Amino acid sequence: MKYNEIRKTFLNFFESKGHKIVPSASLIPNDPTLLFTVAGMVPWKGILQGTEPPFAPRVADVQKCIRAGGKHNDLDEVGFDGRHHTFFEMLGNWSFGDYFKESAIEYSWELLTKVLGLNPNKLRVTTYETDEESTEIWRKVSGKEAIRKDDKENWWSAGDTGPCGPCTEIFYDFGAGIENEDDRWVEIWNDVFMEYDRDANGNLLPLPKKNVDTGAGLERWAAVLQGKIDNYDTDLFVALMKAVEDLTGVKKTSENTSSFKVIADHLRAVGFAIADGVIPSNTDRGYVIRRILRRAMRHSQILGYKGPLLSKLYPTLITEMGEAYPELVHEEKHVVEIIQNEENSFTDLLQNGMKLLETEIQKINNNVLPGDVAFKLFDTYGFPLDLTQTILREKNIDVDVAGFEKSMNEQKERSRADTKGTRTLWESQKQLTGTDDSTKYKPDSEMHSKVLSILRNGEFVESADANDEVEIVLDKTNFYGTQGGQVGDSGELQKDGKTIMTVSEASRVDNIVIHKGTLTDTLNVGDSVLTLINTSLRQQTARAHTAAHLLQAALRQVLNEDVEQRGSKVSPDSVRFDFSFGRAMTTEEKQATEDLINKWISEDLPVSHEEMSLEKAKAKGAMALFGEKYGDTVKVITAGDVSCELCGGTHIYHTGEIMHAKINKEKSISSGIRRITMSVGTLAE
Ligand code: SER
Repeated sequence: MKYNEIRKTFLNFFESKGHKIVPSASLIPNDPTLLFTVAGMVPWKGILQGTEPPFAPRVADVQKCIRAGGKHNDLDEVGFDGRHHTFFEMLGNWSFGDYFKESAIEYSWELLTKVLGLNPNKLRVTTYETDEESTEIWRKVSGKEAIRKDDKENWWSAGDTGPCGPCTEIFYDFGAGIENEDDRWVEIWNDVFMEYDRDANGNLLPLPKKNVDTGAGLERWAAVLQGKIDNYDTDLFVALMKAVEDLTGVKKTSENTSSFKVIADHLRAVGFAIADGVIPSNTDRGYVIRRILRRAMRHSQILGYKGPLLSKLYPTLITEMGEAYPELVHEEKHVVEIIQNEENSFTDLLQNGMKLLETEIQKINNNVLPGDVAFKLFDTYGFPLDLTQTILREKNIDVDVAGFEKSMNEQKERSRADTKGTRTLWESQKQLTGTDDSTKYKPDSEMHSKVLSILRNGEFVESADANDEVEIVLDKTNFYGTQGGQVGDSGELQKDGKTIMTVSEASRVDNIVIHKGTLTDTLNVGDSVLTLINTSLRQQTARAHTAAHLLQAALRQVLNEDVEQRGSKVSPDSVRFDFSFGRAMTTEEKQATEDLINKWISEDLPVSHEEMSLEKAKAKGAMALFGEKYGDTVKVITAGDVSCELCGGTHIYHTGEIMHAKINKEKSISSGIRRITMSVGTLAE
């Protein structure tokens, strides 16, 4: 069975078992604890935890995943065996509080042995050491005696906290001739029984519902179904590696195979990640993608090839995978441009780094390159550590790897410290299931709310005093917490008719709204307060948000239809809008965009706010952010007949309320991405 057919067979099977089929979510997770979507369960974390309602009891999908640079990291293995990938596709079926162990095991067995026709004698199963129930089900369903495994093998979680549970795994026997047991018996499916939630202190709390999360690597299934031991010998990888041969003019041999594997693998990780909006950079996920890309370039250098590589191979990725993932096609221009820029800039860095390395080699007298020099090569010149090591090995020089790691960790700490804030503290408050903020679209409503939690100086307290800077969670609120690029409301909380707290900004952590500000008197958990948002700032933010929609519509008319939002920040009377476009806008284009927006403002177009099903919104032609996962019911904001977008932000009701729009600046923020800053309302006037 061909690689591309396996997806369809899997999804058809689960559709026939009553599962709703959904597309893959983005590789960029909506989860600050993860760099990438590392498993099919990542987009469903809220549903598994019970903080988001399930949109269907049974779901199946094929999820794009990257396991590099985090807890789940396969980067270093790629190229050295036939089973590891940085990017891979995970086939998954889900029960959100519906079926549990019995049906999950039955479905897996039926699909593998009946539909795909695998020989049951070639399969072996494992269960968690204390999971009698699954072990008994396996006996009944397959006649097999499961091998018992411990926490290390058969307990699954995406991160250190969050939903987790025991799992049962299915292994395929690649043949008695293979000496190494790990190569012979390969895991082809993992059924996780998500029953628990691990909190920040390591405690296991039962989840509100018992769920099933299964994951199977499409690449491994392809190997099994095509009778190949090595995933890279399956049709998809053969085609990608053939393209490498054609481009470089170098034939694949047993000596250079690992370079071919690395390049084919890294092409997928880099191509898919950039198509989903990752920009190579020096931090976080951008850093991982840059490393992967450079590692591929290093292997192209080993093959003796000098020109641009992945940017030239990207069209082959589209040929092979573009049908299943239209975003690859949609983003082609953008992705190729970004990869080209990276390739061009690393070519120079490689040369300059070599110069530094040669100077440093002269200074060495103990045959060890200091770790901080290796780190400088890595950090400033973009040399992956293994590149430096390979170059030095020829001269019998080692690298002080511990020193390198020390410098690296110091840098990581610095970047982590910048982003952490109080988020993780709030995430540990599992009793807070969510703030009811359903009145956030009605700024005039007065809400009587109850104080649920007070955070002061990194500690949760029962009571805080005047002048304390605190963060507060209420049972319900009409404050809009920062989300989707729109800054949160400011305002005040009142107790017994008097101001008790000035709120400088409301923010969000998952489903809870956090009111940040300073107390003017004592406040206790359990107190009743009145929430009052600053309605004039709210109005300024709302008109800026609607103006941002008009800006996108105008750019698409003036520049072209391909212009797409890449990020935004909407604050009172000001808009920052990032979009995909390959060059600077001309003065005329900027003027035409501004004129068009002001024309729509003067026409005072009605702005409608409607709730509807996602399907209906799509049928209506509403624009969505690419790669964003939306719920089943969405809000659609329509301005006259010029703009129609899915949006959870706050908006005005007539374009005339914007008063005026003025584009202040247009500049590049990274290759292929431009940024416009615009003022509206009284600020623009
Ligand atoms: N979450 C599990 C895994 O990634 C099963 O989907 O293996």
